[in-house]
Amino acid sequence: GGQRFPHPPGRRPIAYDALTMRTGTPLANVMRVGQDLGPLFEVRVFSQKFVFVTGAELAAELCDETRFHKNLPPALVALREFVGDALFTAFDHEPNWQTAHGVLMPAFSKAAMRGYHGTMLETAAEMFAVWDDLEGPIDVTADMTKLTMETISRCAFSRDFGSFTSRERHPFVDAMIAALMTGMQKSSLDSIPGGKRIARRIDEQNAEHRAYVDELVDAMVRERRASGERRDDLLDRMLYEANPETGVRLDDQNIREQILTFLVAGHETTSGALSFVLYYLSRNPELLAKAQAETDAMLGDDPDVEPTFEQVPRFRYLRRCLDEGLRLWPTAPAFARSPRETTTIAAGTDHEAVMTPDDWAIVVLPMMQRDPAAWGPTAEEFDPDRFLPENSKGRMKNVYKPFGTGDRACIGRQFALHEAILVLARLLHRYDITGDPDYELRIDERLTIVPKGFEVTLTRRTPGA
Ligand code: HEM
Repeated sequence: GGQRFPHPPGRRPIAYDALTMRTGTPLANVMRVGQDLGPLFEVRVFSQKFVFVTGAELAAELCDETRFHKNLPPALVALREFVGDALFTAFDHEPNWQTAHGVLMPAFSKAAMRGYHGTMLETAAEMFAVWDDLEGPIDVTADMTKLTMETISRCAFSRDFGSFTSRERHPFVDAMIAALMTGMQKSSLDSIPGGKRIARRIDEQNAEHRAYVDELVDAMVRERRASGERRDDLLDRMLYEANPETGVRLDDQNIREQILTFLVAGHETTSGALSFVLYYLSRNPELLAKAQAETDAMLGDDPDVEPTFEQVPRFRYLRRCLDEGLRLWPTAPAFARSPRETTTIAAGTDHEAVMTPDDWAIVVLPMMQRDPAAWGPTAEEFDPDRFLPENSKGRMKNVYKPFGTGDRACIGRQFALHEAILVLARLLHRYDITGDPDYELRIDERLTIVPKGFEVTLTRRTPGA
């Protein structure tokens, strides 16, 4: 479409926009620019046009599944070089999406979660065993990332990466993230003069990572097939189950791409969610006390007690803390939407615009979820109780979407929530957390967003005392 949207003013657009998008903190820049230009604006990087939606009302409109659907912004298109049409990066119309969705949905049922519960507890206990012997502060994001990576790989692939039992970090995780991040970096080069040459050099440097990751994933598949074993995990379903409706099964190339997708999508977002909650609780002694009172009421006086499967959803306060953390810092901070047919958005307002099916707009979640029009004057504050039922009445619809929306919403939502609540419950029951009062929240923009350089000191506590 030829539509022009508001645009950063007063500077030469191309140079300014290119700078905006290339400093390594695109989200921070979009949030800054969005303050002045929202609720709808565009940024051009050479030939590439990005349209951003930051206002809650307009974002809610784009979440209407009857009129809009998921599309892939350039950064996700770039990942297709590695993960093809696996669940996250498939275009809506690609048949492999339907196939994989049908094959894998049962792995996220309540019964399946019950099966993962013990593994989640065990992994968390390994982390606590390391922490119990530790002096000095921990790097929260680093440890949460180890934990969530270990949890998804054990639950989904029955694969132990030894994150807490060996001293060395397993090289797979770094190689995998490095491989995917170069894909993202390359996407910003596409429209830049000389970008092709730089992209080639990045590919060369990355070849080793990719070969290593591919070999490790292929070995997982080979070993499972050779063992003849059947297990209750995602890998088993990928290898042996057909889509119940169509009878179609995943092919080998696609299985490799799904494994990588789940290893990545299944951990960094949850790690960030846990880290942000711990940040806010470490800043708010009153809220921390409330959270700990809940753990004590549910788990009692013994710091070694583990929550049962049924108890996890009953930590209502911890759940509100998580919801609120994901409101301020949705760790997958954006998604893209396109209209199914040519349509007018924001009809009857100053921002009225026509979108065709070829257009897409990026919903900037941290701005939508802080829009005072939807969340009131305290929108920037961390206040878990805004999610109490009585405080949610009358709130605009479709203005809270940290797990995406519609058919393409997060398949791992229940998995993430179960894991995060269980870990928070045990952690806050067992330890007091003290942050550095001088620490100022900084955001690391990786594939997802996480707190940067945030440390806490842990002290064993006596629950109930
Ligand atoms: C999709 C967020 C945890 C696997 C999504 C989307 C969002 C999201 C926003 C939609 C993206 C889009 O519309 O383009 C999150 C957050 C998580 C989390 C905030 C944690 C707090 C997980 C976990 C798994 C997972 C634990 C796997 C076990 C996926 C997959 C998709 C997806 C496979 C693609 C689904 C599809 O298109 O069919 N997630 N996610 N996520 N997520 Fe998550």
